[in-house]
Amino acid sequence: MKISKTLITEEEIENKISEIADEINAKYKGEELVVIGILKGAFIVISDLAKQLQIDVAFDFMSIKSYYGSESSGQVKIVKDLEYDISNKNVLIVEDIYDTGLTLSNLKKLLESRNPKSVEIFCMFVKKGVSQDPMDINYRGFEIGPEFVVGYGLDYNGKYRELPYLAVLS
Ligand code: IMP
Ligand code: MG
Repeated sequence: MKISKTLITEEEIENKISEIADEINAKYKGEELVVIGILKGAFIVISDLAKQLQIDVAFDFMSIKSYYGSESSGQVKIVKDLEYDISNKNVLIVEDIYDTGLTLSNLKKLLESRNPKSVEIFCMFVKKGVSQDPMDINYRGFEIGPEFVVGYGLDYNGKYRELPYLAVLS
């Protein structure tokens, strides 16, 4: 497996993060927000976003595994849970990529069961033609094709997360 081409450049990513940070700053002005990064993939997008937020914000992290059962819509196993109690808080989930949507839809249900004030989702890359109904993603970075991508937090067997751009692996 090798990197075959750059799909989204570092500059395009920087511009997009600025746009989305502006939207989030406007939306949560005067409010408190807990940004929840989904490890490991979201660690780079979270740190880039964090530097541009000008609101009352706290950060927490969660690590989960989804099971892709044949019948059930899947379950999430919590590998690392949140440190904060999110009841009555505004929550923004930050995820690296939306593929089948299973991870995010399960996670959203799980977090909603903890009675937050609100839950929104920011997903950096969204694969088109996903197999589940497209769920409510409030902030989306880029729509991409079905190919396997790495970089900007995304890995192949644990590698390539550090690339500052998004690349196709083939
Ligand atoms: P979903 O539950 O199918 O939406 O899967 C989302 C998770 O699968 C992401 O959080 C990634 O960890 C992983 N994933 C899906 N597509 C890719 C890809 O193209 N490159 C790297 N990881 C991916
Ligand atoms: Mg992931």
